[in-house]
Amino acid sequence: MLLVTKRLHFSASHRLHNAELSDQENKDIYGKCNNPNGHGHNYILEVTVAGKEDPKTGMVIDLKLLKEIIQKTLIDQVDHSHLNLDVSFLKNKIPTTEVLAKEFWKLLEKKIKTGKLYEIKIFESQNNVVIYRGGGK
Ligand code: NI
Repeated sequence: MLLVTKRLHFSASHRLHNAELSDQENKDIYGKCNNPNGHGHNYILEVTVAGKEDPKTGMVIDLKLLKEIIQKTLIDQVDHSHLNLDVSFLKNKIPTTEVLAKEFWKLLEKKIKTGKLYEIKIFESQNNVVIYRGGGK
């Protein structure tokens, strides 16, 4: 299997808070991410497409094209935004990195016509990483 990955960065703020839980529970679960006025992360997004190399170009997908798709579909919506307040596809969701990865997948999957979306990987920080490969609920 051939896998091709494009890496992009975005910065955004968020607040993780579940209104069904008490303030103390929210604080215990989400820590800094529960800060009432939100706080920021410098995210790294890696999108991987699987496929066969085109006999003419030798490429699974043109990485310039992949970059443009990711930029338009995802980065332009989330970069330098407040994920809870500014991003329509995250409305009424708790914007954990897990939720971001699944919502990104939904938007991106239909835009990739060459090869097949294989994986979305988001680094929320250097040491915290979420991977989504589609499927599940
Ligand atoms: Ni956070």
